[in-house]
Amino acid sequence: MAFPITRLRRLRQSEQLRSMVRETRLSPHSLVYPMFVCPGEGVRKEVRSMPGVFNLSVDQAVKEAGEAHGLGVPAVILFGLPEKKDEVATGAWAEDGVVQQAARAIKREVRDLVIMGDVCLCEYMSHGHCGVVRAAHPQSLGAAVAAPPAAATEYEIVNDATLEILARTAVSLARAGVDVIAPSDMMDGRVGAIRKALDQAGLANTPILSYAAKFASGFYGPFREAADSAPQFGDRRSYQMDGANLREAMREIGLDIEEGADMIMVKPAMPYLDVIAAARERFDLPLAAYQVSGEYAMIEAAARNNWIDRERVMLEALQSIRRAGASIILTYYAKEAARLLG
Ligand code: PBG
Repeated sequence: MAFPITRLRRLRQSEQLRSMVRETRLSPHSLVYPMFVCPGEGVRKEVRSMPGVFNLSVDQAVKEAGEAHGLGVPAVILFGLPEKKDEVATGAWAEDGVVQQAARAIKREVRDLVIMGDVCLCEYMSHGHCGVVRAAHPQSLGAAVAAPPAAATEYEIVNDATLEILARTAVSLARAGVDVIAPSDMMDGRVGAIRKALDQAGLANTPILSYAAKFASGFYGPFREAADSAPQFGDRRSYQMDGANLREAMREIGLDIEEGADMIMVKPAMPYLDVIAAARERFDLPLAAYQVSGEYAMIEAAARNNWIDRERVMLEALQSIRRAGASIILTYYAKEAARLLG
């Protein structure tokens, strides 16, 4: 039945009617707030390319986590800027690592806030890659590369040697009070390796949120400044996914589920809404999406120029991610969105 019998505008006449027929609703319950923890005390240093986002020392991170919790944000995800970087990512799995310290302190001070721990090595490696780097020449195999190789063909990111460090990191974080382990490194087999290590350490109840379909993306630029994690040579294309591939994303997610992921994630969010929708269609696990640093930075930059209405665009972006099918959204806007929605 078409026009004039059908008139879709009938249900758009008032906010009451529009609200009644609204298909997608945002709520603070599904938001996760990313935080960058750094050494020191009383540090609250704004990230140049992410206005409103800070490097926080442990004491400040506790304050910020408390604020988020007070606004109704149920979870935070922690990233760390270690005191020192090396070739085995010591800062990632050290008992007194900066994220471990923050997790302990937040657990103590902010009751029933879910603490997620990002598991990756790029922030802790001197070369800035997410895994162990090894020279590609057979004669030097086994030797970690200290100095940047000149060309991309001269090194490799070693998959299986990385798994052990990731697993050790996951166990260390869980022991420090991290409630959910979130591997973002994109090594093959890492979810299985982490699951096994957690179980062997008596941490069978710790869930894994896998960054299952994580694309090699230009939208991570500001994050790399926030976390000081830009690769010193080459790029991440040999481990993160090619942005052109939807079917491969489904394979990545399927494999992570087989390896024991409890929740899955697509990242970035807005440029990959079709991947979120396809994942929602195909898999029954809780599905998360990460509205990444570049997505945030673009909205902030345009808003500062008065080119867009900041709050409106922020909520529209979050709604679109929700509508595509993500039930959980990691976003730098978590606090602010919770304030507006609460
Ligand atoms: C670590 C990691 C990155 C992000 C989350 N975990 C950066 C990267 O892969 O380079 C990006 C998050 C963001 O851009 O907000 N590997």
